[in-house]
Amino acid sequence: MTVRRAAATAAAALALAAPAGCDPKSSEPTPAPVPVPAVKAAPVAGAPAEAPVVEAPAVDAPAPGAAPRRFGDAMAEVGRRFERAGRAVIAGRWDLADYDLGELGEVFDDDLRHAARPEDVPSDPQPAIAEFAATALPRLQAAVRAHDRAGYDAAVAAAAQACNACHEASAKAFIVVPSATGAAVPELSPVADE
Ligand code: HEC
Repeated sequence: MTVRRAAATAAAALALAAPAGCDPKSSEPTPAPVPVPAVKAAPVAGAPAEAPVVEAPAVDAPAPGAAPRRFGDAMAEVGRRFERAGRAVIAGRWDLADYDLGELGEVFDDDLRHAARPEDVPSDPQPAIAEFAATALPRLQAAVRAHDRAGYDAAVAAAAQACNACHEASAKAFIVVPSATGAAVPELSPVADE
């Protein structure tokens, strides 16, 4: 179709779409169609690859110019969601538990992966972040989706161990994640007299 034909067709479409009582001829002249730049579509699974595709930035990368979330702020959300998921499981609110675990996963994938290491953390926490997201978290989610209370308790104990191992490696051993489902995070029960 020629550009002129396209414009005529677009004008006709506009006239048809115009609400009653609105005379399209009295309005601004129809602008010529803006040429659309040829955009290479992202490759579709199964579609033939015709041209080399430029690597797109990861979808979960923070918006350019946006400051990454602070590590401790993201961890506070991890603690809150971990605790609430457990309380939801105890209440039999499996969908809420599944939701909280999904959000917890997003904090690991979207926020913690891009967060700067706090100055007083002696080792790189990134391997433990990836490890937690790949093992402890899917185990919690599998138990929730199976409505498996005993399985969830076991997954919480394993997850808490992973949380605490990283806190120890990060010089944050005083932030103790309890191993019981639904227990308050972090541990705040009185310490025994020394
Ligand atoms: C990759 C290592 C790592 C893992 C895994 C990890 N944490 Fe943390 N967490 C940290 C570090 C480091 C801090 C201290 C952050 C800071 O100094 O700002 C922290 C802080 C916290 C805090 C205190 C946040 C605040 O400032 O209020 C809570 C609560 C917490 N973590 C809960 C958890 C829970 C629950 C898990 C497991 C589900 C977990 N963490 C797994 C490294 C980790």
